[in-house]
Amino acid sequence: MKKIKHLLVSISFVILFLSLNLFCQGNSEESKMQYAETDVIKLPSPNLKGVTSVEEALHKRRSIRDYTNEPVTIADISQLLWAAQGITEESYGLRTAPSAGALYPLEVYVATSNVEDLTPGLYKYKTQNHTIKKIDDGDKRKDIANAALGQDAIENSSAIIIITAVPERTEVKYGRRAERYVQMEVGHAGQNIYLQAVSLGLGTVMIGAFKDDALKKVLDLPKNENPLAIYPLGKI
Ligand SMILES: Cc1cc2nc3c(=O)[nH]c(=O)nc-3n(C[C@H](O)[C@H](O)[C@H](O)COP(=O)(O)O)c2cc1C
Repeated sequence: MKKIKHLLVSISFVILFLSLNLFCQGNSEESKMQYAETDVIKLPSPNLKGVTSVEEALHKRRSIRDYTNEPVTIADISQLLWAAQGITEESYGLRTAPSAGALYPLEVYVATSNVEDLTPGLYKYKTQNHTIKKIDDGDKRKDIANAALGQDAIENSSAIIIITAVPERTEVKYGRRAERYVQMEVGHAGQNIYLQAVSLGLGTVMIGAFKDDALKKVLDLPKNENPLAIYPLGKI
């Protein structure tokens, strides 16, 4: 009798487990649908076998401020965002650029205006799943250029990558030293963007001259997140 009771309890547990599983699957289908509805775009996988050697990219790297009107592709955007902060090691989420204590204070945005298969808008890069999420509609070149003392390279670009930082992610471990670590990290990410741009036949320039508050407003950044660098991009 005891054995039968035990068997019945076990069967109920199995049934409960299976129904919970089905319920969760249903929910994940639902959340996938919500995902699509909230303007999240899966980027093409980054190419890991380019034709330009590191030496060639270093040799050719230049700050380029004039671009043609030819559109860049979503594959170019995918590759550049990945070069800046893409995940290259899944278990710890390590990235293309080094980070003090692997605390990753940087965030990456892209403002698109002349990109095939992407409507003009402001997007945030999500490193974890190599997606971008639209956070605002429309061509932001004028607003970003205005924040950056009217620099032409921004107005003439096809897309603009902006790197920001949330310093407190690094401060929790390194205190005041975090300030210099964050500045170093944007340099690493920026050089990756430069070298990747060479390999894609695109031009870019690091723009450091901008009004922090004005750019913060364009990006609608929270109080604890600061803009650090702008990289206009375009075909040469
Ligand atoms: C921290 C930093 C800030 C910069 N800010 C600007 C800028 O606001 N506008 C610009 O046109 N170039 C800017 N540059 C690009 C430099 O002018 C450029 O790197 C320099 O002239 C050397 O040329 P090269 O990059 O082609 O070697 C900046 C570069 C760095 C590293």
